[in-house]
Amino acid sequence: MTTGARIIGTGSYLPERVVSNQELEALVETSDQWIQERTGIRERRVVDDTQSCGDLGQIAAQRAIDAAGVDPKTIDLIVVATCTPDRIFPSTASGLQRTLGTQPGGVAFDVAAACSGFIYALSVADRFLRTGGARRALVVGTETMTRILNWQDRGTCVLFGDGAGAVLLDVSETPGILSTHLHSDGRYEPLLYVPWGPGRGYAALGEESGYIHMRGNEVFKVAVNTLTRIVEESLAAAGIDKHEVDWLVPHQANIRIIQATAKKLELPMDRVVVTVGEHGNTSAASIPIALDTAVRDGRIQRDELLLFEAFGGGFTWGSALVRY
Ligand code: UT7
Repeated sequence: MTTGARIIGTGSYLPERVVSNQELEALVETSDQWIQERTGIRERRVVDDTQSCGDLGQIAAQRAIDAAGVDPKTIDLIVVATCTPDRIFPSTASGLQRTLGTQPGGVAFDVAAACSGFIYALSVADRFLRTGGARRALVVGTETMTRILNWQDRGTCVLFGDGAGAVLLDVSETPGILSTHLHSDGRYEPLLYVPWGPGRGYAALGEESGYIHMRGNEVFKVAVNTLTRIVEESLAAAGIDKHEVDWLVPHQANIRIIQATAKKLELPMDRVVVTVGEHGNTSAASIPIALDTAVRDGRIQRDELLLFEAFGGGFTWGSALVRY
């Protein structure tokens, strides 16, 4: 009998403060029309001074735990995907272990794979559950991307936002996570990166080195090609025809990238979960936010076949086929 992982709860959280495209017109030379036409983004959420990445993740995770109706003490694995952790160490996952009251002595760690982080975290948790390393896992994508944004750079500041999403996984004899596929190609670092990290030393901390640097148009082209390939790879590996997919739940970076993937799948846009308009690119948080949104509003139903896909800094990319 195959043992695997099944989603038993989802949750998400967006900070209260809404920043519209019109507000950004006052900061940089841009327009609501340009942002909507080129990205599909209408507004984004921004944390207040008191909120951290871990705080957002805690609320999303608590909502997933409440949806599943389980005792937090039974959660023996937490994997957090983030590129904006609260601190260098302990990990954001260790912080959640404390604030959520999950099993002391369980496993908790963060993974860093930028916008593909949630798929990476889901894949790692799935492997733990398949191999007996844990029985109940919390997978969280949480980001405060606005803290690493240069608000003078119109090429990036209009794109990103803050938020968190989470799924709770149980070990199951009827696995829901059917397959996951992960890839990375470090040669593309110069197209999308944040120059500074603690490993470089404080002498290397210059102006703008803590902000996202992106050659957007070049990223866009690679993203479209790569996501098309990963979709084909996932379906072929699982022996599933593209017409069997009920819902595409993509990373929410740009509506045009999402539309290109949906076209490849021959999936009409009403079978694609699109939330980018409401929160922009929330990096590792975007897939679990979209998933939770469509689960709670009743679009996604139990037993439907879902395809998750993401692309981000590294470059990293990945996909997951999920029977919900
Ligand atoms: O999460 C994974 C990583 N990130 C992504 O997947 C993002 C990938 N890239 C993109 O989504 C798109 O490339 C962008 C939305 C960043 C840009 O859209 P684009 O259609 O590729 O535009 P572009 O970079 O080719 O720029 C077109 C024009 C340029 O002006 P000129 O040279 O034609 O006069 C830019 O200077 O648009 C200009 N531009 C802007 N204009 C108004 C660039 N940013 C803005 C802006 N407002 N915010």
